[in-house]
Amino acid sequence: LDAEDAHALTLRVLRLMAFIPPARWAATLAFLAPDHPVQAFGLHFRNPVGLAAGFDKDALAVRGLAALGFGHIEVGTVTPLPQKGNPRPRLFRLVEDRAIINRMGFPSAGSVVVMRRLKRLKKLPVVLGVNLGKNSKTPNEEAVFDYLALLQNFAPLADYLAINVSSPNTVGLRELQGKRALEALLEQLDYQRRIEQKNLEKRIPLLVKLAPDLSETELDEALEAIVRTRMDGVIVTNTTVSRGNLRSPLGTERGGLSGDPLRVRSEAVLRFVVRRLDGRIPVVSVGGIMSAEDAKRRLEMGAALVQVYSGLVYRGPGLVREILRAL
Ligand code: FNR
Repeated sequence: LDAEDAHALTLRVLRLMAFIPPARWAATLAFLAPDHPVQAFGLHFRNPVGLAAGFDKDALAVRGLAALGFGHIEVGTVTPLPQKGNPRPRLFRLVEDRAIINRMGFPSAGSVVVMRRLKRLKKLPVVLGVNLGKNSKTPNEEAVFDYLALLQNFAPLADYLAINVSSPNTVGLRELQGKRALEALLEQLDYQRRIEQKNLEKRIPLLVKLAPDLSETELDEALEAIVRTRMDGVIVTNTTVSRGNLRSPLGTERGGLSGDPLRVRSEAVLRFVVRRLDGRIPVVSVGGIMSAEDAKRRLEMGAALVQVYSGLVYRGPGLVREILRAL
């Protein structure tokens, strides 16, 4: 199967499973793992292992995915209006490198559809994050309006919101990580978040997801903006545009690289961010976590939570339980 067709099939099976209670119970039992409770951003997680954004962009299979044992699931990236994303093929499995290159470009069913799906979900055993991104047609100067609309839409439905300014496949998006642009964006989101919090009478943790390709200076400036605007956490990292030595012939495809080749860079960024933040806000580590040892090391390095995507593709859903048993 083509990589994207295979992924769509996986989501369909997981979605179907959720509607057949005996199948859901069987999966829950099959993937039963020890709890490792964690508190972060005022939320309670049954364990520190989450599903990274991009796997279930349109919230098609949240309940089925929850049965695999995750502590949290981050749906999205959701854009305000529906959009198709880039032309296919746009997802490549670099099997020899245990890696993925994607240039999906935020295909999204859009706010309205994803909101409707999330509203139908009853009480979940996982923390639900929603990852937010601007439409590709929205110029950066107007991006704040996209994020504000998304914040208003998803604040009532999500446990936390992740501000995605780091995907490499939306032209110009990563410029929003620049010092002034980021501070201006986050300042407005924090202001709106306070209003929503009052109306909804609940906390709305805001996290910011950063790219692995920022220099130390750029990271420093982004972190400063994040702390100054009272954000609740940082997610590092998104996919990388850098390449290094890849064995697979597909390694020349354009897009964001994830999986094993991202591990070293993602760990370096985690180390840097943990040291700079010095406990002020929690850090979520993602990028190249392919085994229980990888996950354990990230937590020992100071990550509050970890997320997986490519590891799940290569190791299968058993990876979650494998990690939890090793903790
Ligand atoms: C992603 N990722 C991603 N991230 C994000 O914030 N919004 C998104 O929509 C997507 N979409 C997406 C699609 C595909 C096909 C992949 C492989 C990845 C990035 C993902 O959440 C994660 O940050 C990276 O993949 C690094 O983690 P792994 O894959 O190395 O565990």
